[in-house]
Amino acid sequence: MKSVFHDRYGPPEVLRIKDIPVPEPGRGEIRVAVHASSVTSGDARVRRADPFLVRLFFGLFRPRKTLPGYEFAGTVEALGPEVSRFQVGDRVFGATGFDFGALAEFLVIKEEATLIKMPEDWSFTDAAAIPFGATTARCFLEDKGHIQSGDRVLVHGASGAVGVAAVQVARIHGAAVDGVCGPKHLELIQSLGAEQVFDYHHESPPAESYDLIFDAAGKLKASDAKAWLRKGGRFVSVQKGLAKERPADYPLIREWMDDGKLKPVIDQIYDLDDIVAAHRKVDGGHKTGAVVIRIRE
Ligand SMILES: NC(=O)c1ccc[n+]([C@@H]2O[C@H](COP(=O)([O-])OP(=O)(O)OC[C@H]3O[C@@H](n4cnc5c(N)ncnc54)[C@H](OP(=O)(O)O)[C@@H]3O)[C@@H](O)[C@H]2O)c1
Repeated sequence: MKSVFHDRYGPPEVLRIKDIPVPEPGRGEIRVAVHASSVTSGDARVRRADPFLVRLFFGLFRPRKTLPGYEFAGTVEALGPEVSRFQVGDRVFGATGFDFGALAEFLVIKEEATLIKMPEDWSFTDAAAIPFGATTARCFLEDKGHIQSGDRVLVHGASGAVGVAAVQVARIHGAAVDGVCGPKHLELIQSLGAEQVFDYHHESPPAESYDLIFDAAGKLKASDAKAWLRKGGRFVSVQKGLAKERPADYPLIREWMDDGKLKPVIDQIYDLDDIVAAHRKVDGGHKTGAVVIRIRE
């Protein structure tokens, strides 16, 4: 089968397509025929070994995990022994956690991992665009930001994968949401439910106005956040700590998507063979939502 492969850290060109054996599912594992995956900002950071801490987790001199790819959507194609949650033919979407390997024609994953069946009427490309942003937004807004219904929330960096999910998740929680993004994204962020949207190049949100500020891009100065918060307001940044992998996120994400409350935002869809171009796009730091990789028609 075809898989993306890298045995060095570095620029997008360290990635190549390699022919490797189709993996066999073991006890409690399923094999998924992957239809779509993505390149997240996290995938690009691991490839670049940026920050240096990446090397402590994934290999000091060379990556121990040579098959990248985190989000996926596809069809269950084979079952290992003792699998009870899934059947051959089920359409599923999810994320691999730090095992990676989703940028391949087939993926073996534990049935208890962060994945779930997806409705028949969803496209695989839409489903593959959701998990990274939505699970990160949930973790930062709920666990760290303690978001409450009625809060006035500012999402700074509202147009990336985490930002577009955060605007929508904050609205789902009953917050009034404002966003900060670049000029080409103002309408998009409003269409996702933000009331006021500010262009970070030459506008500032109002002072002392927010119960919760979430810096979804990791670009906001603490002094600015402090000036825009109401007394007792909370500031959380995506740069502080790691989002947790939680299987319990997935039933909620599926429900929100089914209800039309959480919409995928896709910058561009690339073919697997164009993986280097897709990583270059992500390295640019200005993508809109997700960069999706189509693996099967
Ligand atoms: N801690 C965790 O567990 C965790 C999890 C996920 C992500 N992250 C981190 O969170 C950050 C965002 O992730 P992502 O996947 O959403 O990234 P992304 O999709 O690459 O974000 C790109 C967006 O950031 C916006 N942006 C760039 N510079 C900005 C600035 N100065 N002010 C406001 N917005 C700006 C861009 O808007 P314009 O094009 O308009 O400039 C673009 O739409 C990354 O640093 C990532 O490593 C951390």
